[in-house]
Amino acid sequence: MAHTPASAASPAASLQDIVSHAKEYGFVFPSSEIYDGLAAVYDYGPAGVELKNNLKRLWWQAMTQLHPNIVGIDAAIFMHPFTWKASGHVDSFSDPLIDNKDSKKRYRADVLLEEKAAEYENAGDAARAAALLAEMGRLLMESNFDGVRQLIIDEKIVCPISKTANWTDVRQFNLMYSTQMSATSGEDDAALYLRPETAQGIFVNFLNVQKTARQKVPFGIAQIGKAFRNEIVARQFIFRMREFEQMEMQYFIRPGTEMKWYAYWKETRKKWHEALGTPAEKLRYHDHDKLAHYANAAVDIEFEFPFGFKEIEGIHSRTDFDLSQHQALSKKKQQYFDNDTDPATGKPFGNYVPYVVETSVGADRLFLATLCNAYRTEPDPDGKEPRVWLALHPAVAPVKAAILPLVRKDGLPEVGQRIFDELKYDFNLVYEDRDSIGKRYTRQDLIGTPFCIAIDHQTFEDQTVTIRHRDARTQERVAISALRGLLAEATSARRVLERL
Ligand code: GAP
Repeated sequence: MAHTPASAASPAASLQDIVSHAKEYGFVFPSSEIYDGLAAVYDYGPAGVELKNNLKRLWWQAMTQLHPNIVGIDAAIFMHPFTWKASGHVDSFSDPLIDNKDSKKRYRADVLLEEKAAEYENAGDAARAAALLAEMGRLLMESNFDGVRQLIIDEKIVCPISKTANWTDVRQFNLMYSTQMSATSGEDDAALYLRPETAQGIFVNFLNVQKTARQKVPFGIAQIGKAFRNEIVARQFIFRMREFEQMEMQYFIRPGTEMKWYAYWKETRKKWHEALGTPAEKLRYHDHDKLAHYANAAVDIEFEFPFGFKEIEGIHSRTDFDLSQHQALSKKKQQYFDNDTDPATGKPFGNYVPYVVETSVGADRLFLATLCNAYRTEPDPDGKEPRVWLALHPAVAPVKAAILPLVRKDGLPEVGQRIFDELKYDFNLVYEDRDSIGKRYTRQDLIGTPFCIAIDHQTFEDQTVTIRHRDARTQERVAISALRGLLAEATSARRVLERL
């Protein structure tokens, strides 16, 4: 039962289709919805949490199980306040904001310019788009915010609400949320930040991990965890959230080898997205126009969302910036002794602060890309509601199989329950014996269940059941004794990871 991705021929889903589907079928709900929600914060429902966990597990396995030199950690969200001073986030982790004086609306200056560039691109003027982005990148790198404002005016960008170009100066706005350690002020009231990236938990544990896991450079540390950013332009559903989850891996390497490893991870990470079932034509690379304060090279892997190609993952060559900064502020050496022989000198490479190549993918953006990619519709031949289903890879589907006795009598439910009990330890299943079989198939299609197992009267005669395949809607009879093997084969992580 190899998974063949269903044809992507059905019309492309709009973001609204995805948002409604996610809400209706238990994937994603607005946070605290009974109080009218909390902007850019979302909760995952019963189908959503399973799908997200499956995606996270496949990332974790690809990193730690497939690479003997990559190990995992789970660092705390709260970190010593010096962490964020050393990392540069206190001084530099900000967005350039601009207000329109007439509408009193606030915008990210870089987003206004990026939207203008997208307009040029859509109108077929890719050269003008590229020139605009390059100029914006240059000005931001130089922290020339008067220049950024002038560029917005020169490009005749107006506020979408007031339609005027009556802009304030561009100001920097720090994205970190802060809180304090103790309930009583004065005790220990240094501001604590909710981490804006998980990476720093890895950097400050670099030597703990290297020593205890007995790793030699090059080696990596992987982590999955929450991050928080006070995003000003928070929209497009779970694409840009204020609380989100990152899956990051820092790869510690010998200085001077960073471009080799940067190229390796750039290619390996794109292949991973393709292995999950994302068509290659829906992915592309985008070199950064403005480099983050820590990077000497950076590229995004972008996915074609209903609102255009946008970043799902960043690959960054972070040099020795973070470890050197932590070494300087903590006054604790962050060095590694490399006893391999340097061919240039014939002596060991000796002590150095390792360089780092980072891969960083947002679990929520990956989730959104996965939903957009899997959403299918097909007109109904009888003119009824179109069929909608999610063509998810069986390894990521929230429910692997539904056990469905054809009727609620004649001993069929008992057989169904026995099959469920036999398989439930190894697979996430549902058991349903209410409603017509057609309605039950539809419910499973909507959450992307790859297999429906129907029990009928023939089951008593020959110990077989019917398996219905979600995408093609074909059915085949198989022996009950063969079910475990069939499901294991189709839903195994191997089916995804062996494509790497
Ligand atoms: N440690 C490097 C770092 O944090 P980043 O490009 O700022 O780099 C990495 O973030 C990934 O985290 C992005 O590619 C995206 O998938 C995800 N991400 C960043 N901000 C996000 C937000 N506000 N909401 C959802 N995901 C976000």
